[in-house]
Formats: sequence, C-alpha cells, structure tokens
Amino acid sequence: MRPIDLRSDNTAGAEPYVLEALAAANTGTAASYGDDEVSARLARRVSETFEREAFVFPVVSGTAANALGISALCPPWGAVVCHEGAHILVNEAMATSMFSGGAALLGLAGEGSRLTTAALTACLERTAWDDPHSSQPAVLSLTQATEMGEVYQPEEIAALAEVARSRGMRVHLDGARVANAVAALGCTPADLSWRAGVEVLSLGATKNGTMTADAIVTFDAAVAQELRFRLKRAGHVASKGRFQAAQLDAYLTDGRWLASASRANAAMAQLLAGLARLGYEPVVPARANLALVAVPDEISARWAQAGVQFYVIEPGVVRFVTSWATTDADITTALHRFQHDSGRA
Ligand SMILES: Cc1ncc(COP(=O)(O)O)c(C=O)c1O
Repeated sequence: MRPIDLRSDNTAGAEPYVLEALAAANTGTAASYGDDEVSARLARRVSETFEREAFVFPVVSGTAANALGISALCPPWGAVVCHEGAHILVNEAMATSMFSGGAALLGLAGEGSRLTTAALTACLERTAWDDPHSSQPAVLSLTQATEMGEVYQPEEIAALAEVARSRGMRVHLDGARVANAVAALGCTPADLSWRAGVEVLSLGATKNGTMTADAIVTFDAAVAQELRFRLKRAGHVASKGRFQAAQLDAYLTDGRWLASASRANAAMAQLLAGLARLGYEPVVPARANLALVAVPDEISARWAQAGVQFYVIEPGVVRFVTSWATTDADITTALHRFQHDSGRA
C-alpha cells in the first residue's frame, strides 16, 4: 500500500524547476561568495517581488534565517516577544538567543498561535523599562502562517507592529509558510511585510519547493550591512552561493512560489472538507497548508495503520500538513482510508 505522507511540507522533494535551475547554474565558472550573476539576479527579483528595495541573504534553514535575522535587530540584553508556541521559542534550541549574544525569548499566550495587541500591550506595560535587571523587549516576532495554521491579516500585523514600535521595538516575521499565507489571503508579499511594519523576514522557501535554500529578507540597509558580517561569522556565506541563489531565483520567478503554495493550500482545503464530512474538525480555523484536527487516539491509530502518515502532536490532536507535491489523488486516497477506518462511515 502506498503511504500518503501528510507529516510535513519538509517531507516533499524539491520542485523540478529548482533542479533545472541548479543544473543551469552548474555550467562554467562564476565568482564566489555571492558575487555572481545569479545572486545579483536574485537580489533584483526579491526587490521586484516585494515592490521596493530589499536585501536578500540565502541561508540553509529557517532556523538560521530566524536566528540570524533577529540577531541583527536585538541587543544581547534585549527580549524577543513571540507566541508561547513560536517555533523560535520551542523548536530551535534557542538559536535566536545564541546568535543575538543572549537575548531572552518571551512567549505570550494567544488562540491559534496568534498574538493579540491586548497581550502584547499587557506585556509591554508590565516591563521594567530602563531597568538593567530586566531584559528589554526589543523585537516582536510573528509567525505567518502560524504554527497552528492560522493566518494574520495584513491589518492585524500592522496593529501589532504599531504597538511594538510605540516602545521602540523592531518587527520580525517567521515566514516559514509566508507563501501559503500570501496565497490564502490573496494579498501581496509587500502587504504582509514592510507595508505592515515588518523589517526582517524569513522567506521559508525549503518547505515550499527549494532544496537547500531559505533566505533572510530585509528592507533596512543598515540591518543588511550588519547581516553581511553576522552571516559570515555564523558560517552562512556559501562559497558557491550561486547554487542557493539559483534555487531561490527560480522559486520567485513567474509567481511559482505562490502557485506551489496555492496547490498546498488547495490540498489542505480538500482534506479538511472531507474530514468535516466524516465529523472531524480543526481545533482552530486553518487557512493555509497546516491544520490541527481533533481525532480520538484510537481512530488516528487506525488511520496510521491504514497507511496515512501524520503526527499526533498531543493526545486527541493530529497535525496534517500538505505541500506543493500533494495531489488530489493523495487526498482522495487518504480520505477513503479514513472513511473506512473512522468507525463513522
Ligand atoms: C513555523 C516554523 N518556523 C521555522 C521553521 C524552521 O525551519 P528549518 O527546519 O528549515 O530550520 C519551521 C520548520 O518546521 C517552522 O515550522
């Protein structure tokens, strides 16, 4: 029986056009450390994509993008305010703390892994500002789409960014699934980033189609200048940078990244519609390609035995993730197996 893989968008391969771009970059010689033509093309492409001057730094992972991107915004005594379930806080071995030279990460509660202006305001009100005994909130980090598959509307990001800025904080976006959010909301990358007050974001390309390339994007020239050195010190300046640039350039060309994300989102919508028919609902509204669904453990165990792969993230809650590579037939097959083994058919 062919397993249907709904564990993560990291389990999918790379988009074929990424492999073609790698092969094309693998001809002749080129200047090293990002001084090549493909890297220059990527820089132009990123500015076009975000509709203003932007600076791009390829890295190998989302963790590196988050930790290094935030480190350029946060002093060692600063605090990064994020959701209590944020990937940077619970899944990145405190890389952000390490790269910033010791910054604290302050996790706040919020439904669907979303921060609210009320929670942020309360946090900033109870801060001992200008007290050297206390970490000073310096960065707000939001995840888009969130760790639970919800999305922030551009105006929600703008409202959070305004509260942060009122205390001199800077704004970072963990865009591990930002393409899925852009596709789900039908807005532009600019709407979800600088227009809403985001200064640095992680692009999140690997989950959505590249092979070994994520990127930090910033709209601030001073931050970009600092990142040049921070990346080098962290060992994130690839000598053959053209191969990372080739993947990212192909990814952003002709809106492919958004087409890939739309396919993943459509697969999730198809899955959720089928699960709803079987009586299973997401625990929070899922708009992108990731959903947490309430499923009794005895049922999910049978689904797993029936050849569908997913994670049980806590008793009674299953996490499904679709990717650019998930097909209609995958979802139809998964739903068929669920129906057969749900005890509700
Ligand atoms: C929300 C979020 N942020 C960041 C990352 C980090 O990406 P990577 O695993 O490439 O370091 C992930 C990966 O799962 C993620 O889900």
